[in-house]
Amino acid sequence: MAKKIIISAELEELSWEELTISERELLDEAKKISHDAYAPYSDFQVGAAALLASGLILKSSNQENVSFPVGVCAERLVLGFAGANYPKDPVRQLAIVAKKAGQEKWATVSPCGLCRQTISESERRFDQAIELLILLPSGNVLKVPGIEALLPFKFEDLNG
Ligand code: THU
Repeated sequence: MAKKIIISAELEELSWEELTISERELLDEAKKISHDAYAPYSDFQVGAAALLASGLILKSSNQENVSFPVGVCAERLVLGFAGANYPKDPVRQLAIVAKKAGQEKWATVSPCGLCRQTISESERRFDQAIELLILLPSGNVLKVPGIEALLPFKFEDLNG
């Protein structure tokens, strides 16, 4: 008989009031930068803010290209910048928000596959989980303890 393997993850949904001041600040930074997204092809404006162990906050929005695959997600840009400029300062938390241009309400967003793999590498680099804070359209925030929750059974798990 085939053995069943169940993969599960525990995420938390918190109200704005349940967040710490520092978490709110990180999300606010992601909101601010999202307004400057260069997203003329999708109109989907994403903001990502990374909190480094030193307390520094780095931010990015998504940057698209007329040749669609060339565009880069907000998460990958900010993690790349962090790795290049602060190679000894691990990313501890990553706040992610998104909005359709011109709309009032925040949109549902969740990191794409490439970004999940990139987050995974940033965790691997410093052997430390990165907590994700994802803003939901309700105004609540989804707290993800680390990429394992969104990317189980990844290449790294199989290859050490
Ligand atoms: N995008 C991000 O920047 N982050 C995500 O988590 C999801 C998608 C971007 C890619 C593209 O510029 C636009 O949003 C629509 O997919």
